[in-house]
Amino acid sequence: MTRRRQIYEGKAKILYEGPEPGTLIQYFKDDATAFNAQKKGIINGKGVINNRISEHVFTLLAGIGIPTHFIKRLNMREQLVRQVEIVPIEVVVRNVVAGSLSKRLGIEEGTPLGRTILEYYYKDDALGDPMITDEHIACFGWASQEEMHEISDMAIRINDFMSGLFAAIGIRLVDFKLEFGRVWDNDYPRIILADEISPDGCRLWDMTSGEKLDKDRFRRDLGGEVEAYQEVARRLGLLPEEAEHEVLDLETHRKKRGK
Ligand code: TMP
Repeated sequence: MTRRRQIYEGKAKILYEGPEPGTLIQYFKDDATAFNAQKKGIINGKGVINNRISEHVFTLLAGIGIPTHFIKRLNMREQLVRQVEIVPIEVVVRNVVAGSLSKRLGIEEGTPLGRTILEYYYKDDALGDPMITDEHIACFGWASQEEMHEISDMAIRINDFMSGLFAAIGIRLVDFKLEFGRVWDNDYPRIILADEISPDGCRLWDMTSGEKLDKDRFRRDLGGEVEAYQEVARRLGLLPEEAEHEVLDLETHRKKRGK
């Protein structure tokens, strides 16, 4: 690998300096964490699959007019993205009760929500990403009111689009997390979608069997993580059945050769 400057290392991705100013290379690792990194593991080939799934979803979202940081996929684990000033808020969109919402309010997982719920969490690992409201965001200046309007509008449009995308392949989009960033165009700040969209940050349930096809398989020790991620990619048409083993085998082969 050519030497290049690492800008940031997160739990599932690394950001490197890009080839041009204002760009970064986003590298997808196989590392998986849960519960604020108290649980750690590796999901073999996850980075390759998430890179493809995120590319696909971001490209489709751009097609419906959602501005995103994605520029192009560079190779199996890397994509070229626009550098953004990350808004320190994790936006969670929920359609069905699951996870922390179920725990917090004592409502059974799987209960459909009469309306979509948006939640905000302050992006701070040391604090365990505490839940916050618009009031905290405004008070501490993490985003302006105008930016929060843009963010919530986009989150709802993304949810509408993705719910349809997954429903069409027999998957229920239960909930998911989004991150946004700020870019400066002629001295004006603009909000764009950043980070990734993959089974790491979405709950995806098979519509007929209810089977979990996302990171809950890892969080809850259910096993079959790789197969679940591959199944999502396959249904999205990203891994033709015959090729799916080849993709991962090819990478293993390359690693063995030290490339
Ligand atoms: P939660 O039920 O644990 O709050 O998670 C809601 C959704 O957000 C779920 O699809 C997983 C995703 N998520 C992340 O991507 N990163 C996180 O740090 C957390 C807490 C949730």
